[in-house]
Amino acid sequence: TGLVTLDDGYANTGSCSSAITFIDGEQGILRYRGVPIEDLAARSSFIETAELLIFGELPDAAERDEFRALLTDSAALHRDMRKHFDGFPVDAHPMAVLSAMINAIQAYDLPEIHITDEAGFRRAAAGLLSKTRTIAAATYKSHVGQPIAYPRPDLAYAENFLHMMFSVPYRDFEPTPEMAHALNMFLVLHADHEQNCSTSTVRMVASGGANLFTSVSAGVTALWGPLHGGANMAVLDMLEGIHDEGIPAQRYISMAKDRSSGVRLMGFGHRVYRNFDPRARVLKEAAYNLLESMHVTDPLLDIAREVEELALADDYFRERRLYPNVDFYSGIILRALGIPKDMFTVLFAIGRTPGWIAHWKEVHDNPAQRIQRPRQLYVGNPLTQWLPRDER
Ligand code: CMC
Repeated sequence: TGLVTLDDGYANTGSCSSAITFIDGEQGILRYRGVPIEDLAARSSFIETAELLIFGELPDAAERDEFRALLTDSAALHRDMRKHFDGFPVDAHPMAVLSAMINAIQAYDLPEIHITDEAGFRRAAAGLLSKTRTIAAATYKSHVGQPIAYPRPDLAYAENFLHMMFSVPYRDFEPTPEMAHALNMFLVLHADHEQNCSTSTVRMVASGGANLFTSVSAGVTALWGPLHGGANMAVLDMLEGIHDEGIPAQRYISMAKDRSSGVRLMGFGHRVYRNFDPRARVLKEAAYNLLESMHVTDPLLDIAREVEELALADDYFRERRLYPNVDFYSGIILRALGIPKDMFTVLFAIGRTPGWIAHWKEVHDNPAQRIQRPRQLYVGNPLTQWLPRDER
C-alpha cells in the first residue's frame, strides 16, 4: 500500500491550495483576500466582509445593493420549515438545531442547490447567510417561548439579528450603535480562518461533491466541540466558575497546568498563532469599549484580565507559547449584548458562514479537485480467525 507518513492532527500537512485567507502565526497576521483583519474589524460591515471572502473582492455600490436585496428576499424560512422547530425539544442545544435546519433548507425553497451559474451561487450564498441568522434567532425564540420576530429590511445584518433575538410583540428592540458595532466586529473577526477544523470539514465534504447546504451543515457540527467553536461558551463557564465558587485565579491556572486535572485554560492556545492572536487583541479592546458605552461593569472581565496576566507571566504558558485566542474575550461581549451562553457557538457559526461558503466554492470551482481521502497507519489486530460463538 506504499509508505504512509503520519502527521498527528495534520500539524504540518497542507490539505489544499487556497486564495482566501492568509495567516502568519509567528507575526500574528490575519488577512482576508489580502485585506488586514484590523481594517475590516474597524471599518467594514459583516456583509461587505462576507462578499469579500466569498466573491474575492470588496463589492462596489451596485454589487452591494444587489447582494443586500438578495439577503432581504431570502431571510424568511419556508413556512413548512417551522414544523422542524416544533419537532425539537424546547431545550435542544441550539447547535443541534442549527446544523439540522441548515441541512433541511435544501429540501424546501432553494432550487439552486445544484449551482450551475454565478447568479445561482449568489442567490444560494445570500440565502444561506440570511437564513442562518433567521434560524438562530428563531431557535432562541422557541427556547424562551416567544413568537418569532421577523427581519426588518431597513436594518443591517448585525442589528437585524439583535432585533430578531430581542424584539417582542408591540415592542421592537433597538440596539444602540455601540451594540451593533460590537456584534458586527465579532462577526467580521470570525468570518474565516483558513483550514481550521470546521472549514476543513466543509472542504472535505465538498470534495465528495456534496451541495453547499449539506457541506456547511457539517461545518456547524464540527464547530461545536469545546476545543474549537465551543471554546467561547467554555470560557464563560470557566470565568463564571472562578467567580461563583470563589476559586483564586492562580489556583485555576495551576489546575490548567496539571495534565491529570483534565482542565485546560479555555480561550488560550492556538495551533497556528505562536505570539498572539490578532483577533483577541481587537476583541479585548472591544469588550472594554462596549461595557463602558453601556455603563455596566462585569466582574468576569476583571477575572479574565487577571487570568490573562497570570498566565502570560507563567513559565508553563510562555514555554508552550500559549496566548489568549479569539474566544477569550468574545464571550464577555456576547454576554453584554444579552446573548445567552448556549447561543455563543451559534454566533460563531453565523460569523464563520461566509468562510465556509467561500471554501465550498473554491472546492466546487476547482477543475483539478480530487476527493479528500487521507490514509492511516493501521495498528489493529493482525490476521484474526473468525470463530463460531461457542468457541469464543
Ligand atoms: N491550557 C493548558 N495547556 C494547554 C492549553 C491550554 N489551553 N493549550 C495547549 N496546552 C498545552 C498542551 O497540554 C501541550 O502541552 P505538552 O506539550 O506538555 O503536552 C501543549 O500546550 C501543546 O498543546 P496541543 O494540545 O498539542 O496544541 P494543539 O495545537 O493541538 O491545540 C488548541 C490547540 C487550541 C486546541 C489548544 O491550545 C486548546 O485546547 N486550547 C483551549 C481550547 C480553546 O481555547 N480553543 C479555541 C481555539 S481558537 C478558535 C477556534 O479554533 O475555534
